[in-house]
Amino acid sequence: MAKRKVLKYGDERLRKVAKPVTEFDDDLFELLDDMKDTMYANNGMGLAATQVGVLRRVVIMDLGGSFFELINPEIVASSGEQEDEEGCLSVPNFSDVVKRPYKVTVKAKDRYGYDFEITGEKYFARCACHEIDHLNGILFVDKSENREKYYKKYGKK
Ligand code: NI
Repeated sequence: MAKRKVLKYGDERLRKVAKPVTEFDDDLFELLDDMKDTMYANNGMGLAATQVGVLRRVVIMDLGGSFFELINPEIVASSGEQEDEEGCLSVPNFSDVVKRPYKVTVKAKDRYGYDFEITGEKYFARCACHEIDHLNGILFVDKSENREKYYKKYGKK
């Protein structure tokens, strides 16, 4: 296991759409394990493979001790609404309020390629939406209340 470098705002790879995982092999396990090391080393709650420069649909999350690995995740149902502050390891020195669904159901595969579905509320829903957005080249800044201020200061990248 090893830490990988987290891409920062302005890196064009953060804006690419990631491709589905098709091989559930040692390379994927290594990526997942490295992502875990990288997330914990940076005190993150979630990390998308895109953030370490790997354009594959892989997400990990740790919500208060519950650890999730989501391969090829898709939101298949969502309901309600919540507003809370978000931050991102790829967007240093900025946090802002983002509107998200209150509850989501995510369909994904585990690291061995088996399908599962998981439904969660609040932080689970917020984090899953944030990380899946990464796989589509979307950053929380784009959905935040003060995005215009941010773009004005750092540019719309
Ligand atoms: Ni993020």
